[in-house]
Amino acid sequence: MKKGFTIIFIVLVIVLGYIVVHAITAPVKLTAAQLGAELIHSHKSGIDCFACHTINGKGGNVGPNLSKEGALKHSIKWLEVQIATPSKHFKSGSMVKINGKTYMAIMPDHKMLSKKELFELASYLDSLK
Ligand code: HEC
Repeated sequence: MKKGFTIIFIVLVIVLGYIVVHAITAPVKLTAAQLGAELIHSHKSGIDCFACHTINGKGGNVGPNLSKEGALKHSIKWLEVQIATPSKHFKSGSMVKINGKTYMAIMPDHKMLSKKELFELASYLDSLK
């Protein structure tokens, strides 16, 4: 009888130990917006946004400041299209007014980015409010 309890106790400790270790070491799942934040700050080729856009005080001003892009309430789809093929929204070379400021529409295409990357970047921009 006593031996039975000892075995049950040991099995319990092993099972609980496994659960605890698993909970601590399991990889943290990042959201699409978090992955997009990592991507936009990476030096991956084709990720050139900061050359023209400022986000939170860092970057250029050839294009609009994107620090509050999410507040403009564009859909994720709209943002994906804007990043991949901006001329579908703004005629290349024309003067466009965005958020009260005028820009020349010269944003380049980013067709080399995967669907997943476009979704992540769009989700990140949408999260900026
Ligand atoms: C060479 C400069 C340049 C680069 C590089 C660039 N953009 Fe742009 N972006 C612009 C300009 C100029 C506009 C204004 C409209 C246009 O040109 O299509 C714009 C517009 C936008 C808009 C639309 C803002 C609005 O709400 O109307 C988004 C979103 C955007 N860019 C995101 C990005 C992202 C993300 C990247 C990087 C993958 C990027 N841009 C790279 C210049 C640039």
